[in-house]
Amino acid sequence: MLPEISRSMLKNSLVLGLFAVTTVGLVALLQQATASRIAAAERAAQVRALAEILPQGSYDNQLLDSSVAVHDPELLGSKGPRPAYVATKDGQPSAVILRATAPDGYSGAIELLVGIRADGRLAGVRVLGHKETPGLGDKVELSKSPWILGFDGKSLSDPDEAGWAVRKDRGQFDQFAGATITPRAVVKAVHLTLQYFDAHKQELFAAQVNPHG
Ligand SMILES: Cc1cc2nc3c(=O)[nH]c(=O)nc-3n(C[C@H](O)[C@H](O)[C@H](O)COP(=O)(O)O)c2cc1C
Repeated sequence: MLPEISRSMLKNSLVLGLFAVTTVGLVALLQQATASRIAAAERAAQVRALAEILPQGSYDNQLLDSSVAVHDPELLGSKGPRPAYVATKDGQPSAVILRATAPDGYSGAIELLVGIRADGRLAGVRVLGHKETPGLGDKVELSKSPWILGFDGKSLSDPDEAGWAVRKDRGQFDQFAGATITPRAVVKAVHLTLQYFDAHKQELFAAQVNPHG
């Protein structure tokens, strides 16, 4: 038989232990739920952006089911393989949409979706995720400003090498008032993505596309 004080200590320890286990479990559950909500939101943003970049009618395959894995830390800023979506029309490649990361935003990496038509011109660029400052760097989002539409139709040779910079660096792309770092990072990443496309377009378009994405 335990003395009264030991029994009380045992009871308190059990209650405390149970509390700790329940709390850890709840936090883990919450974390998992949040992670899957973020993943679902990113997927939704990606589907929306894909549809915006390539208008219906410019391809006739199932874009999300037609991808090849690509990886290039230097030109795409990727940390591992990512899907490149290959659009075809009447069996001919019409465009590719690449995921790219601009590592040097004001507050960290900026995730991009870059659509490039078979002729090497940009079909469109959209920001999938960023941590830039509201009212300053977040103007790279189409919902905040039309700035990102300035890439439409541009290519590796239009503008030329020097033109692929913000105006403050004597390039052709506008910066924002009081925020040069964010647009500079995005312009650089899009330029590098065009270089990736130029170096790999044959294999991208010739690749056996994975029918399951
Ligand atoms: C609180 C705070 C947040 C800022 N957020 C951004 C941002 O999101 N993007 C950006 O380009 N600059 C941002 N800036 C401004 C940059 O520090 C920098 O002054 C600006 O981009 C101009 O860069 P430049 O001197 O290279 O032209 C922020 C500044 C402060 C003080």
